[in-house]
Amino acid sequence: MKEIKIETTLYIYQDLDELPKNVTLLMQKAFEARRNAYAPYSNFNVGAALLLDNGEIITGNNQENASYPSGLCAERTAIYYAGSQYPRAKIIQMAISAGSKNNLTTKPIPPCGACRQAIAEYEIKQDTPIEIYFMGETGKVAKSNSLANLLPLVFDKSVL
Ligand code: THU
Repeated sequence: MKEIKIETTLYIYQDLDELPKNVTLLMQKAFEARRNAYAPYSNFNVGAALLLDNGEIITGNNQENASYPSGLCAERTAIYYAGSQYPRAKIIQMAISAGSKNNLTTKPIPPCGACRQAIAEYEIKQDTPIEIYFMGETGKVAKSNSLANLLPLVFDKSVL
């Protein structure tokens, strides 16, 4: 038996102001998207903004449903829109902001496992890393240089 250790690397920015200017702007798009989330059941609003290599910015937010599992996270709302409208464009960056209506969210909130799997599909398809920046409503911003860093042991087409 041998042990395998998996390491990952994240970069932590102290706040929005420490980000490169273009990323601050992308995160502000995620903020705007978060404000339009439809989350009456969880009161947890999430916004995502994608920068494509054609210059387009795509945003999405979580969309909940009285039948709870029928809702969709912000990240998948955004990435499926990008995939459907711009199938040949590469996704360069994704910015995510999450916040509860019940209390101020001050720590970086990473994408859920299902969203990581969905983002991984597009990163593999485009064969170019997607930079992921994620935060709460305020405070520190975490950056991963690629989705792969957030999802070791990804399930991908190579096993099918
Ligand atoms: N949510 C997202 O939009 N993205 C995530 O990565 C995690 C969770 C949404 C789903 C649901 O509407 C609410 O946040 C609470 O789970």
